[in-house]
Amino acid sequence: MRMVDLIEKKRDGEPLNNEEIRFFVKEYTEGNIPDYQVSALLMAIYFQNMNEDEAAALTDAMLKSGDTIDLSAIEGVKVDKHSTGGVGDKTTLVLGPLVAAAGVKLAKLSGRGLGHTGGTLDKLESIDGFNIDLSEKAFISQVKKINMAVAGQTKNLVPADKKLYALRDVTGTVPSIPLIASSIMSKKLASGADVICLDVKTGDGAFMKKWDDAKQLSKIMVDIGEAFDKKITAFITRMDQPLGHMVGNRLEVYEAIRCLSKKGPDDLETLCKTIAAHMFKDAGRTQSIDAGMKLAEELLISGKALAKFYEFVEAQDGKLEDLDTFIQTEHVIEYNAKKTGSIKRIKARNIGVVSMKLGGGRQTKEDTIDPMVGIELLKKVGDSVKAGEPVAKIYANGDVSDDIYDDLDDAYIITDETVEKKDIIIDIIR
Ligand code: URA
Repeated sequence: MRMVDLIEKKRDGEPLNNEEIRFFVKEYTEGNIPDYQVSALLMAIYFQNMNEDEAAALTDAMLKSGDTIDLSAIEGVKVDKHSTGGVGDKTTLVLGPLVAAAGVKLAKLSGRGLGHTGGTLDKLESIDGFNIDLSEKAFISQVKKINMAVAGQTKNLVPADKKLYALRDVTGTVPSIPLIASSIMSKKLASGADVICLDVKTGDGAFMKKWDDAKQLSKIMVDIGEAFDKKITAFITRMDQPLGHMVGNRLEVYEAIRCLSKKGPDDLETLCKTIAAHMFKDAGRTQSIDAGMKLAEELLISGKALAKFYEFVEAQDGKLEDLDTFIQTEHVIEYNAKKTGSIKRIKARNIGVVSMKLGGGRQTKEDTIDPMVGIELLKKVGDSVKAGEPVAKIYANGDVSDDIYDDLDDAYIITDETVEKKDIIIDIIR
């Protein structure tokens, strides 16, 4: 088989067959095809798209490029969740303990943040002592014992994705729906869970800016999951403002604890309860999604989900006494509204960038982060504000540069009209 023939076939709009897809993934991963040819193929895929069969074959070939996690030693149904990445997204910190408190097993490998979106591992590591480096054995044994574990990836999962993603990043081919779907799904399938929930963010702060694209991506991922016999649901959720009120690693842990204590915020609580309810139904823990919603509510009210969070932190060596102190930064600065009206949008991307510039995120993989800094949003979309009234608090160590204020000025869109508050979940696809 010759790579140039595959490039020409795709360039001319013809679908690739399984064998052709397996060939280029395997040979590229092993270093036998040069970057320039794979770049040309990726660009052809970007313009000509892939059908469902091709996307499933690509996922399968990528999945088989490396190790997979065997969770069969854990009894019962295992659940996992993935977010396509947002700002203020601390869902795993609430959802994990919530489902584990119901006796459902959550085995989750998470990532670090890069750019304007935060990563779950960085949030967890803002707790003094928290260990995300679990061996596969320790990971499995913790899930067996307390029903949940969240760890960084140790095995060589989906090496094809590492190479392909790096190439896509520098060739303008990241925003291709079949390429994103196969990249995400190959990693989820390699992680070994039976039930998968995907949180597909849409809006300014997300990968998928448009709702239509988010829907297409969700459908294709659900189809791929079903082809691999998984119970899978995609939740299309709003990212036209950050999730919750807190953005920044330790601030988000604090907000997750408040949410687990049934103190809101509403968007985060609704999202976590709804995903949990689908997991309960798919894991056979409840008969229906409605019953799952009730169970999630009870676990929050009774304090069982919060107790599970503390058990989880302790199991991974986090110091519980560290959670008693709120944020300690050199400065806490109020940021005031520029005009009177209703908040129409809070550009999530800008808020993520502000958090990163304060030191809460990485611009390059090598950067170290300051876990304490970030932003607290005092007002959200739909709230009315008066000019000069504080709408956010900046938690900073060191000077706050002028461009941070410029980013915030640009983030808040305030209008004279009344703005309706919208549901966090736009659509559910299963
Ligand atoms: N997240 C991934 O893991 N892969 C993509 O291609 C895009 C987002």
